[in-house]
This record gives sequence, structure tokens and C-alpha cells, in this order.
Amino acid sequence: MFTPVIMAGGSGSRLWPLSRQSSPKQFLDLDGSGSSLLQKTLTRLKGLNHAAPLIVSNDSYRFMVAEQLRQANIEPFATVLEPCSRNTAPAIALAALHLLQQGNDTIMLVLAADHHFTRPQELHQAINQGLPLAEQGKLVTFGIKPTRAETGYGYIMTGATLGESAFNISAFAEKPDLATAQAYLESGQHLWNSGMFMLRASAFLHELERHEPELLNHCKAAMASGTQDPDFIRPNSELFSLCPDNSIDYAVMEKTDNACVVAMDAGWSDIGSWQSLWEVSERDDNDNVALGDTFLHETRNSLIHAHHRHVATIGLDNHIVVETKDAVLVAHKDDAQKVKEVVQHLKANQ
Ligand code: GDD
Ligand code: MG
Repeated sequence: MFTPVIMAGGSGSRLWPLSRQSSPKQFLDLDGSGSSLLQKTLTRLKGLNHAAPLIVSNDSYRFMVAEQLRQANIEPFATVLEPCSRNTAPAIALAALHLLQQGNDTIMLVLAADHHFTRPQELHQAINQGLPLAEQGKLVTFGIKPTRAETGYGYIMTGATLGESAFNISAFAEKPDLATAQAYLESGQHLWNSGMFMLRASAFLHELERHEPELLNHCKAAMASGTQDPDFIRPNSELFSLCPDNSIDYAVMEKTDNACVVAMDAGWSDIGSWQSLWEVSERDDNDNVALGDTFLHETRNSLIHAHHRHVATIGLDNHIVVETKDAVLVAHKDDAQKVKEVVQHLKANQ
């Protein structure tokens, strides 16, 4: 038995103009299937023996979280609301502290809310394989065979074999530079970190105590003087704002000597950009992904989203067009990562 802990507090800026600060990607139905990334993250676990999930999100998203859980018929164990974003290490610490406070030193399956799997059964197998390792007190990660020198991911160097497709981690490097990522790719000894973790609440806090005691103390203080009602757990805003910003990858995974990895081949991808959404979506004969009211003429390899108006394209190749009520993005698909720069520009000029 384990408790899914869903990190749903990010802002998803590379999927602008659909993903906004006020309604980020995890709450969006990006493929027209009728359910959001957050809802898919939870329903994908169906069939596994798990307890009610714990959601960690930002205070400003509380209504969206509550409404989407209700729609999906999911009763959470708790929803913890961060008063401000301090990245994933504090988010997971708040979840672990709440579980322990409830006398529930459970195994947490920590999941991002923006992942896509083409073979969910393989994910289930990997989770079942990770569970006994987490029960032994290990910090379990889930690794993906790398296919390119991606600098936006963490890299896991595999060590001694622990069982079928499970290994000790001999080194963890978060977001290396391009030359290092290339060397890791060529070594054949590295896996990408999928950004999913399986760990006992107390084991995670123990590692934080060893490696980032200040961060842990701020989280403890914020929880101790926070408030709780039947719907939401709210850490103290002033105290939580003092907490350093850090991800679990830098704060714990790079430093611990108690981690292992389960390699999985579940067709995993992180839906971080329009390019990655195009990659995982079903495409027509011209390799286009079209959503909404569109007419695509002599257009290939492109993603066209029409949300409010009719969108017609002629002669496009390898482009992204995303139309919304108040903004339109037109970009070369190879520049999908740069959408973040548009958002930064807009923020600076608000
Ligand atoms: N609650 C909460 N609070 N959630 C957060 C916060 C926060 O402050 N910051 C990020 N998240 C959520 C995001 O919404 C996302 O679901 C997840 O945590 C991971 O955060 P990202 O910001 O997307 O991390 P990343 O993609 O740069 O890197 C992580 O994922 C990679 C794989 O996708 C790392 O774990 C890498 O090592 C990994 O390779
Ligand atoms: Mg990500």
C-alpha cells in the first residue's frame, strides 16, 4: 500500500498561451480527451493498491484542484496548499510532515502532474517493483533510457544490480550541461530521472535532515503554525516564505547514498513544451496535431490549436500555432523551449 503524492503547483510557462499563471498546464485538457493532466495522473493509477492521494499545490489553485478531483470522483487524503512556490523539496516535505502528523508513516509515490505514458501497464509494474525497495527504507527513483543529450533532466548513474531492472544509484546529476549530458548518453550507464519518486515519509525527512536541515526546519515551523480545515491544509505563509527554494533533485537525490532506481520502459514523456505535446499526440497523415475548428492546407509536422476562432493554415511545416481568446502564438517547432522567454517578457512588461 502507498499514498500517491501529486505535485501540482508548477506554472507550466512553456505551454503559453494556453497554460497561464492563473490556470497552468496540469489543470488543462491538452488533448481534447475530456480530462486534465492532473486527472489523468490520478486515474492512471487505477488497478494499483493505493490509499487516497495527497495533493500539494499552490493556494491560488485550490478551487481548480477541488473541482477537478470532484469531477474525477476522487476523495483526497488531503490537499496541502503552499502559500508561495518554493519548488519540490519543500512541497514533498510538507506532504511527508502532514502524513506523519496524522500518524501515517506511509510510502509516498511522488508524481509530477504533467507526465504522459503510452504504456501505463509498464508503469504499474515499475511501481510494484519499487514498493518493496521503498519499504526497506530506500529512496526509489524511476529511470528512463535516454535517447538524446537532454539538459533539462536529471541523470542517474546505475550501480550494483538489486533485482530485475533495479539498481543502486552510484551518482545523480541534475540538469548537466550539454557536453556532460552527451558524455552520459554515450556512456550507456546512465538513465534519465523521470521525476517520480517512491519513499517512506520518515525516510525522506531523515535525508532532508542530513542534507538540508534549514529547509526542513522552515517546513516544520510553517506546518506547526499553519491551519487546517476539512478541505485544506495551509502552512503558515510568513514562515513558509522564509524557506529556501530547492528541488528534491538538488536537495536530496544528488547527495544521498541511499537511493536506487527502477528502470522502466513505459513510453514516458514530460509534457513540458508544445514540441513534446506534438510528439506524444496522435497525428494525422501529414503528421499534424490539430485541435478545435481548423483547416490545414499543405501543412505538415505542425501543431495547430484553435480554442476560440477558426484557424486556417497554408504551407506551414514544423510550426506551432496556438490560438486563445486573448493571445496567439506562432512559432517554429524547434523553438518550442523559447516560449518561456515570451512569458518572461510579458511578466516584465506587465
Ligand atoms: N506543489 C508544487 N510546488 N509542485 C511543484 C512546484 C512547487 O513549488 N514546483 C514544481 N512543481 C511540480 C511541477 O508542476 C511538476 O509537476 C513537478 O513538480 C516537477 O517540477 P518541474 O519544474 O517540471 O521539474 P523539472 O522538469 O525541471 O525537473 C524534474 O523532472 C525531470 C523529468 O521531467 C527533475 O526531477 C528532473 O531530474 C527530471 O529529469
Ligand atoms: Mg518538468
